[in-house]
Amino acid sequence: MKPIYLDYNATTPVAPAVVEAMLPFLREEFGNPSSAHRYGQTAHHAVEQARRQVADLLGAQPQEIVFTSGGSEASNLAIKGIVFPLLFGATQVSCGLAGNRFLAAWQRWWRRLRPRKLHIITSAIEHPATLRPCAFLQSLGVRVSVLPVDRLGLVDLDALRRALRQPTALVTIMHANNEVGTLQPIREIARLAHEHGALVHTDAAQSVGKIACTVRELDVDLLSVAGHKLYAPKGIGVLYVREGLTLEPQIHGAGHERGRRAGTENVTCIVGLGAACALAQRDLPALSEKLRRLRDRLWQRLRNALGDAVVLHGHPDQRLPNTLNVGFVGCVGAELLQAVPQLAASTGSACHEGEIRISPVLQAMGVSQASARGAVRLSVGRFTSEEEIDQAAEALVQAAKAVARPASAIAVVPAAEKP
Ligand SMILES: Cc1ncc(COP(=O)(O)O)c(C=O)c1O
Repeated sequence: MKPIYLDYNATTPVAPAVVEAMLPFLREEFGNPSSAHRYGQTAHHAVEQARRQVADLLGAQPQEIVFTSGGSEASNLAIKGIVFPLLFGATQVSCGLAGNRFLAAWQRWWRRLRPRKLHIITSAIEHPATLRPCAFLQSLGVRVSVLPVDRLGLVDLDALRRALRQPTALVTIMHANNEVGTLQPIREIARLAHEHGALVHTDAAQSVGKIACTVRELDVDLLSVAGHKLYAPKGIGVLYVREGLTLEPQIHGAGHERGRRAGTENVTCIVGLGAACALAQRDLPALSEKLRRLRDRLWQRLRNALGDAVVLHGHPDQRLPNTLNVGFVGCVGAELLQAVPQLAASTGSACHEGEIRISPVLQAMGVSQASARGAVRLSVGRFTSEEEIDQAAEALVQAAKAVARPASAIAVVPAAEKP
């Protein structure tokens, strides 16, 4: 028997309707969308239809949608794409400068001095797809403010106000956290950032498809989507780029995606993502309600059976409807999941050479070591049933009782990032 899948935040299965939409493009419709003949035009029209489907779900215009290889590339394009021209000038300029000694010296000067004035803001609980590009920019001299979060995982807005006293190019804060599901007040964050002239990017990899989220409502300038979190295949994503905003491509080449991302389009996966967005649009908000019901049923069953030995991590209400991050006090997350092989879920801690590594997100939230050690992320999805929830709860309760031990002297060290 297949394990019960409660790891929809890691990835989702491809929905049958999405597979159906993709199949013709794996078989007979193999054209290159840039070709003028019929094969090419069929592929081109399919890509443009998918672009409209994505735009509709996000409340955007089709020309504001850039297809990428996934959420990581989308966030890299947003962050580096905005900052690079401020750091180095546009590529066209840099290319033209090559070979000129005076101008090359000027460029060196620009690179040394300019970054110090550049400032961007992010938060302590971002996915590595945001944290790493920010750290990379920091290595080039850009100042990066990392905002703390509170115990529920909410970004400290006073810290944001203080950070915005310095001129800021970009604020990049995730919409929903992948581990605990806490939803940030992005609209409020965007208002503050815009008042100070900063652009706003949000990583919405976990929220798009689970809750209604439109770029107008969130009022962001850039927004990342990861296809495999909403029943499209892996390896496809989107960056929404507000009309009129220019950014430096991270993949240079021919003029695909209006010059914002070179490379022959991944037609099959783009069609799949379009179909997945249409599916999400059709099923929201009823899907959100179903997810919430299942998630809360699971929590209630765990709580009724284990009482205070289970602790909820994340915001009680401002949270993704499908995400339940639970600390099983007295347990080690990885050991607990090993004891329930009939269940596929994620831990909030990793076991490494006898040491327990607590997730940086739970650490940033100041979650107690006792519950962070026993953290398990249970994330439900479109195909989860009530029966599976009841079986999963029962299995977890039995396993928690079996593996729990007194808060022992297991060494706890920071680390371990989650997809
Ligand atoms: C919040 C968040 N951002 C970005 C990503 C990266 O997306 P992708 O796997 O498509 O590169 C993930 C997925 O792990 C995620 O959960």
